[in-house]
Amino acid sequence: MTQTPDAKLPDAQLASARAAYDALKARNLKLNMQRGQPSDADFDLSNPMLDILGENDFMAGNTDIRNYPGGVQGLPEIRELFGAYLDVPASQVIVWNNASLELQAFALTTALLHGLRGSPQPWVRLGSKPKMIVTVPGYDRHFLLLETLGYELVSVGMQDDGPDLDAVEKLAADALVKGMLFVPTYSNPSGESISEDKARQLANLKAAAPDFTIFADDAYRVHHLFEDDRDVPVNLIKLCAEAGNPDRAIVFASTSKITFGGGGLGFFASSPETTAYLAKFLGVQSIGPNKVEQFRHVKFLRQYPGGLAGLMNDHAKLLAPKFQAVYDALEEALGTSGEYATWKTPKGGYFVSLDTTLPVADRVVELAEAAGVSLTPAGATSPGGKDPHNTNIRLSPSRPPLEEVREAMRAVAVCIRLASEEYRQ
Ligand SMILES: Cc1ncc(COP(=O)(O)O)c(C=O)c1O
Repeated sequence: MTQTPDAKLPDAQLASARAAYDALKARNLKLNMQRGQPSDADFDLSNPMLDILGENDFMAGNTDIRNYPGGVQGLPEIRELFGAYLDVPASQVIVWNNASLELQAFALTTALLHGLRGSPQPWVRLGSKPKMIVTVPGYDRHFLLLETLGYELVSVGMQDDGPDLDAVEKLAADALVKGMLFVPTYSNPSGESISEDKARQLANLKAAAPDFTIFADDAYRVHHLFEDDRDVPVNLIKLCAEAGNPDRAIVFASTSKITFGGGGLGFFASSPETTAYLAKFLGVQSIGPNKVEQFRHVKFLRQYPGGLAGLMNDHAKLLAPKFQAVYDALEEALGTSGEYATWKTPKGGYFVSLDTTLPVADRVVELAEAAGVSLTPAGATSPGGKDPHNTNIRLSPSRPPLEEVREAMRAVAVCIRLASEEYRQ
């Protein structure tokens, strides 16, 4: 190929990328783009919750929130609210304590030790490790949880309209494949939502295991970035009931990215029978959830202007400009041709998933770290922490202030350019 007079030679490209990187390093930045946490401005929206309960505010209807009685399923008022969130009747919802991950661990452990409703035997008695389908790129804590509990992970790719269901169908022909753990709305990290068609296909899927279960972590179900351009979350519980597989779906969520991170409420829902089945085991390990926290959430979410939707709109106003800052910085420095990287532009959720064009993700993270910009470790979005393509990087714009997001992403772009030019030499 002939060079145009002003096209840079490869070593000139490398020299210029290195000079940009050296200039970046000299700035001694200290920025963090790896924490998938709300910002302080997000938390401030929920500060009224801190003192919303007055001294005499301890009766939730007829229930005294200071004492044990009240049952394992949670206060009726909060089940009503989160039933609306998940689009299921309140009677099918259990509201527990502060973390949806704990509830996922509980359901996955119950399945191992006792089986789920309709299981021929506990999943530890299969003679081999039970297998669980996960989507890649995916959430590192899902992988860690499943691996720690002794599940074997089998992965399928993520497509624009949700998990690769052809791959799921093939895997589900193995009776050791007991189900699938994934994020149905604005997936972590790539931001796709499962389409209604795919969700219906999953509900109807013929699986060799009679108790094949969809563990749907709907952490971002209401986390839209825009008022007028949104993915439509699916109702897996309803679709599974319609498909004649009523116990197939268990859907989890929490308010960790609505009110306070780790200081909110986790909840889940399933068919009436599976909800009752799981409630029985929860009731053995605890007399009941923290009703004080639940009542605080009821009062706060009811009084917030526009309710839960109003609060989410206010979060979106803080978050959307940060996502835009990520795209602007990347586009400005790397262009849109895909020469160096491509990235998703989700309509909601908490992350931007970036793929380098060359297999240099680990080098980008290393260069960024040395320049004072902390990124999620390369490989974190694949099981075992090993990305076979070495391309995926999860960017988390939610926590830093807007200007820091912009600054950090400009720096990341410099690192992507240098890592790519180094690789090309
Ligand atoms: C998909 C997903 N599920 C769960 C969580 C954690 O939720 P919780 O605090 O309710 O355990 C996160 C946090 O990043 C997440 O991205």
